[in-house]
Amino acid sequence: MADKLALLGGSPVRERPFTRWPIFGERDEARVLAALRTGKWGRLDGNEVSCFEERFARMHGCQHGIAMVNGTVSLRLGLMAAGLQAGSEVIVPPYTFFSTASAVIEANMVPVFADVELGTFNLDPRAVEAAITPRTRAIIPVHFAGQPADMDPIMATAERHKLLVIEDAAHAHGASYKNRPAGSLGRMASFSFQSSKNLTSGEGGILTTNDAELAAACRSLHNCGRIPSGVWYEHHVISGNYRLGELQGALLNAQLDRLEEQTKTRDANGRTLRERLAKLPGIYPQERPEYSTRHAYHLFMLRIVGEEFGAPRAALIEALRAEGIPSSPGYGFSLHQQPMFVNRAFGPYLPDIAEKLDYSQVHCPNSDLLCREQAVWLEQSMLLGPREDMDDIARAFEKVYAGRVALAQRARTSK
Ligand SMILES: Cc1ncc(COP(=O)(O)O)c(C=O)c1O
Repeated sequence: MADKLALLGGSPVRERPFTRWPIFGERDEARVLAALRTGKWGRLDGNEVSCFEERFARMHGCQHGIAMVNGTVSLRLGLMAAGLQAGSEVIVPPYTFFSTASAVIEANMVPVFADVELGTFNLDPRAVEAAITPRTRAIIPVHFAGQPADMDPIMATAERHKLLVIEDAAHAHGASYKNRPAGSLGRMASFSFQSSKNLTSGEGGILTTNDAELAAACRSLHNCGRIPSGVWYEHHVISGNYRLGELQGALLNAQLDRLEEQTKTRDANGRTLRERLAKLPGIYPQERPEYSTRHAYHLFMLRIVGEEFGAPRAALIEALRAEGIPSSPGYGFSLHQQPMFVNRAFGPYLPDIAEKLDYSQVHCPNSDLLCREQAVWLEQSMLLGPREDMDDIARAFEKVYAGRVALAQRARTSK
């Protein structure tokens, strides 16, 4: 007989917590303290942010990096740096965080949703092609969960239609596509250093590029429209102050020393867990195509097909949590179904255009299915421990599968 599920009164698979995030120690403290003691806390006075920009950009195959206050601003400034006009259409996936699309609206442009692939959770290159209109100017593929989107066909489409591509690499620090680093695959890329991210300073972001002109435009935009040859009170374009501070720069420099090792650990543990879980009926870990040469595993994602597994997603998640395995269903609905889109609550943006947009007509069945029924997320820090942690996660899934009949019964009676 199967072990009794913890949810039904049995003992849990695991009682110890997983690796806590963020990870920091004496080196982080020393670097932040040293920056503090210089009294040079703004990026224009010290060297921490500029040193970090150079290191991070280089690690991601780029000549230029412009650090900013967060990854939403870096996306928006990227669109603005390219000189795109108000009302331009920008293709984005519907299975992503709010910012991928909100940054487009805050640049006074129109997000157009193209569905994701069910297997990889990433933008479907064929859906991108189908979403193009004469007004399309840009594409923002998201490397969702830290796995690069299929960039070659997306870049080929962009080239054919003369479109700008900005990677939303908020999840993808250290990831690679066909051995080329995320961040260097489009014309520009945007990363986030918000608390949950694989590299964090609490808040922060960076824009990377190999295009010197775009880099100069971004640098100006993030610094109140100043230019290198200008004097302090001389402003050339509309913008604001989006500079990152030196204390965050110092912390990022210390954290960056750990990134390579942590990325290797997540990637190896992710592969192990994937192989184990794929053996269970109705459990489909995120597909890992050959082009995904390094997965950053900001999230370990899988799909559950309830009819095949024998219990629905909500029951699985509840049972896993009781077994000591934190997990979540992720987004409750696709991005275009957010109240902001339904009500076109765009504030002063897109005047004249907003009232003609009807996001209720958007058709993205894969994203909807993931949100409504199938997606399950595990957080990146769970992949930072030893192999035994992966065993615990896999054993908990196996145990829940073995106890699925009792679990489904409980789910039915508690309705
Ligand atoms: C996919 C994606 N894009 C953009 C962002 C925005 O980054 P930030 O929170 O630093 O503004 C986030 C995250 O928070 C994200 O998950």
